[in-house]
Amino acid sequence: MLSIAENDRGTPAATATATVTLEIDGRTVTVPAGTSVMRAAADNGTAIPKLCATETLTAFGSCRLCLVEIEGRKGYPASCTTPVAAGMKVKTQTPALGRLRRNVMELYISDHPLDCLTCPTNGHCELQDMAGAVGLREVRYGYDGANHREAVKDESNPYFTFDPSKCIVCSRCVRACDEVQGTFALTIQGRGFDSKVAAGQDESFLGSECVSCGACVQACPTATLTEKSLIELGQAQRSVVTTCAYCGVGCSFRAEMKGEELVRMVPNLDGQANHGHSCVKGRFALGYATHRDRITTPMIRSRIHEAWQPVSWETAIAHVAAEFRRIQAAHGKHSVGGITSSRCTNEETYLVQKLVRAAFGTNNVDTCARVCHSPTGYGLKQTLGESAGTQDFDSVMQADVVLVIGANPTDGHPVFASRLKQRLRQGARLIVIDPRRIDLVRAPHVQAAHHLKLRPGTNVAVLNALAHVIVTEGLVDDAFVAARCEAPAFAKWRAFVAQERNSPEALQDETGVDAAELRAAARLYATGGNAAIYYGLGVTEHSQGSTAVMGIANLAMATGNLGRAGVGVNPLRGQNNVQGSCDMGSFPHEFPGYRHVSDTAVRQSFEAAWGVPLHDEPGLRIPNMFEAALDGSFKGLYIEGEDIAQSDPNTQHVTAALGAMECVVVQDLFLNETAKYAHVFLPGSSFLEKDGTFTNAERRISRVRKVMAPKAGYADWEITQLIAQALGYPMQYTHPSQIMDEIAALTPTFAGVSFDKIDKLGSIQWPCNDEQPEGTPTMHVDAFVRGKGKFMLTEYVPTPEKVTARFPLLLTTGRILSQYNVGAQTRRTPNVLWHDEDRLELHPHDAEERGIRDGDWVGVESRAGDTVLRARITDRLQPGVVYTTFHFPGSGANVVTTENSDWATNCPEYKVTAVQITRVSQPSDWQRRHQAFTETQLDLLGAARAAAD
Ligand code: SF4
Ligand code: SF4
Ligand code: SF4
Ligand code: FES
Repeated sequence: MLSIAENDRGTPAATATATVTLEIDGRTVTVPAGTSVMRAAADNGTAIPKLCATETLTAFGSCRLCLVEIEGRKGYPASCTTPVAAGMKVKTQTPALGRLRRNVMELYISDHPLDCLTCPTNGHCELQDMAGAVGLREVRYGYDGANHREAVKDESNPYFTFDPSKCIVCSRCVRACDEVQGTFALTIQGRGFDSKVAAGQDESFLGSECVSCGACVQACPTATLTEKSLIELGQAQRSVVTTCAYCGVGCSFRAEMKGEELVRMVPNLDGQANHGHSCVKGRFALGYATHRDRITTPMIRSRIHEAWQPVSWETAIAHVAAEFRRIQAAHGKHSVGGITSSRCTNEETYLVQKLVRAAFGTNNVDTCARVCHSPTGYGLKQTLGESAGTQDFDSVMQADVVLVIGANPTDGHPVFASRLKQRLRQGARLIVIDPRRIDLVRAPHVQAAHHLKLRPGTNVAVLNALAHVIVTEGLVDDAFVAARCEAPAFAKWRAFVAQERNSPEALQDETGVDAAELRAAARLYATGGNAAIYYGLGVTEHSQGSTAVMGIANLAMATGNLGRAGVGVNPLRGQNNVQGSCDMGSFPHEFPGYRHVSDTAVRQSFEAAWGVPLHDEPGLRIPNMFEAALDGSFKGLYIEGEDIAQSDPNTQHVTAALGAMECVVVQDLFLNETAKYAHVFLPGSSFLEKDGTFTNAERRISRVRKVMAPKAGYADWEITQLIAQALGYPMQYTHPSQIMDEIAALTPTFAGVSFDKIDKLGSIQWPCNDEQPEGTPTMHVDAFVRGKGKFMLTEYVPTPEKVTARFPLLLTTGRILSQYNVGAQTRRTPNVLWHDEDRLELHPHDAEERGIRDGDWVGVESRAGDTVLRARITDRLQPGVVYTTFHFPGSGANVVTTENSDWATNCPEYKVTAVQITRVSQPSDWQRRHQAFTETQLDLLGAARAAAD
């Protein structure tokens, strides 16, 4: 197993194109200007001993182990902090250097426990390696003097230990926290012998601002900061590169394994989305995969209040096929459908929609992207011609202005946020448009130039006002617009946004945003250099979600901020494979590659490949499936990896619809909220148990590789295939690579994609075809995918969800770093230490008016329903706006959200719900019913498990 140090060249690569030639140990070498002597030597095969240097951090020069001799220079400069110079003559190995290095090592070792044999990093410790490299044979100072060997361990973090007795105060952890993660949680306190690493104000790691990203653990050259899993399990025997299954950043990891056991996840330095960084979820929150709650035996039952019956796979699959055929025979072909998951691989998602279209014979297939980024697909397709973000993440490092709207990257997309903060610390300016003061507004060494604290539901008005300033103050990039966009549409749009009613002043009362501040933000976006927009669900999950996405695209086109690095329109996708699930044809109206089912040529290509006639009309979207279920015309639903009973709005409506169906099949890891309403449970596989690909928010297709056998016997794609076969529709894939080959053959934007090519290139950003054989990091470079960019009119239509005397506050929702979506995975990990309940945040003014104190139970009542949460009083919010996360089923956040949805895509309006908040002393009726129902369902599951044992 390679440790990070073994390939580490000590300092970051220089980016200059000019080169410098010098001599190292008598050999002539040529390297980019700005390269350190250490890296120049390493690049040319000479490893200079080092401890405080690592190629992921700026050189610091504290350990003095990397000294070299340079002809004509006095003393022994540190090679890590000395840049190369033309004609320089460097010696890396001389008797004097050998003595000096041994002296340095002696000092370190004289204050270091000599318990190497029992140390968890034995054999993978840079201190140990360096002792060997410098030829240390004795420690003359003895071990009796003052030392730190009795220093007390900090075990507070659930995932890693801090053992200061082993610390060499190299400061790599501090610099990793500052430079890579951007949290600035660590410092070196004291001086000389007393200097030590301290978290926060000399607190425990858990008590400090530390967000448990693990960057310090990765950077530590000794066993001071070590994963607890490594301490417990010992070192790994093999590693497999795979992709995180949490958020849409798509970080690459090496899963380090011992037999079938996961020892640890190590962020992959070659990962093209994360460059060796990670967050607490992807790196540490993996315990769910082997949690005792996982169900590994298929189960069936006739009614949801009956006991589950554990059955064989053959029986379960035959039962599903029989039930779906029975329902179709009785109620028609379109009385059944399927839901794909953004958590599953592309190949699995593709198979589910193929199963529904080809084997069920209906287009009733939809995906959880319906409730998150479906407006992105629609809005970007209309304006730019492709339903995807325009850049790669690296692009942000060339942005001069970053506009973040309706996204909270430090919580939702943490590794991207770290990169963004790096760029902001380099001087890029930041505009945040959000009702709440997200962490980015004021972070260590980061301060937003403008925070437009808008009222929930007024995104489109704010975007129109920004456009108004750009148009009326002459800030349009006329040359770009003339060359790249449709002139008549632009003229119409220009006239529309120029109207006085779209001015910041006219909209100030509606949006709550100060007109002068908005004007300043618009000027900065239009004139500050490369300007990039990043947005999230705070844009899409509105009744005008699609309009807002189009408004964003309009702004980027008007200012010429598309088609090159550093700019663009970047949807931050929530789940790991939201982009992929959309690409794979999960929507009822589209085949893979966003092609309408009514397009005869496209449909015929699928008919020829799949060997069956296909329906030419769009099927039901998820909300329509619910309506049809309640009407009695929709009776059977196959749900792979999705928990609609928790994640979809108006929970009581959803559960009523599920309760009205005759056969609900849930394929998942756990008995989730939806599975409590299921008639068949098919145990799914975690991402560690299968091969396939995920596509992240950058359109980057990365490999998911199987690191352990499926716990229940089958990967999800195999289960879908078994159902198809049982229905009499042949599917005979033996590996997911064959599914990708079929996708590539049928989908022009994926034409050049194959597992072999991904393995060779590391990852591929689609489109990947003959024109772009290695993928497309930046889209729309010379022309838009649709030819000319199209400005769309974005009339602001206020949401029907109005505040009234009865419901005077606006509730909006969001995520938190330590939890993920419905929490099914992260709630089953120690991440609950950071967030063990969803709280209702409200402004001190609103709290005081209602006599609410921090920690009180409060009732949250909307037109749809009511729930009870504990209050957190915070001035992050503006008066009149309240906020909660939605990671715990019992919180009932979606009992309160309404059925309002985006006009174009039906994406629910999660972000705006009028509510009243009152102090209460007991759970809501719904919560009591939910608790009782959950207990019953867990009892039924317990009985089934006992029967299976
Ligand atoms: S904890 Fe590790 S990285 Fe940090 S100063 Fe100590 S030895 Fe260096
Ligand atoms: S885990 Fe991350 S946030 Fe915490 S101290 Fe280490 S680098 Fe900083
Ligand atoms: S940022 Fe997202 S993809 Fe990366 S480790 Fe965290 S959850 Fe996984
Ligand atoms: S590696 Fe250069 S001074 Fe530490």
